[in-house]
Amino acid sequence: MLGSVIPSSLVVIEINDDFVDMLSRRFSDPRLRVVHRSAAEVVPALRELGLGPADYVISAIPFSIMEEEDRLAVLRNTYEAFRAGGSLLVYQFSSRVRACLESIFGRVHQVFEPRNILPAHVFYCVK
Ligand SMILES: C[S@@+](CC[C@H](N)C(=O)[O-])C[C@H]1O[C@@H](n2cnc3c(N)ncnc32)[C@H](O)[C@@H]1O
Repeated sequence: MLGSVIPSSLVVIEINDDFVDMLSRRFSDPRLRVVHRSAAEVVPALRELGLGPADYVISAIPFSIMEEEDRLAVLRNTYEAFRAGGSLLVYQFSSRVRACLESIFGRVHQVFEPRNILPAHVFYCVK
């Protein structure tokens, strides 16, 4: 219906103190929730905010330089955070994350985006 508003929230999860501080002070939109913790804790973070499962996640976490254990922890928790049919978009400067995405999500659609600064690999997965 034209003009109707679907209530939604944008949850931003970040571990960097300064980035969290800047985001919290710069944006006052009540639909934005800035969470100062690791993305490996996205399920408890959503629960504590009183939110249901996620529809979409966009991530630029530097998976390729993380320890395997940390990479798996973030991506497994992200998978758990989704409703069925929820989708994940990851952009990276290397393709190293792909195997890990496939082990958790199964199919991964990959494209290269030359217009990004820096040009990036984009991975798309659906739960
Ligand atoms: C390439 S920057 C992307 C920044 C921003 N999201 C963007 O797209 O412009 C990667 C960010 O991931 C954050 N990060 C790294 N590991 C994280 C984790 N486990 N949980 C949440 N954020 C993390 C870093 O602090 C950094 O701000």
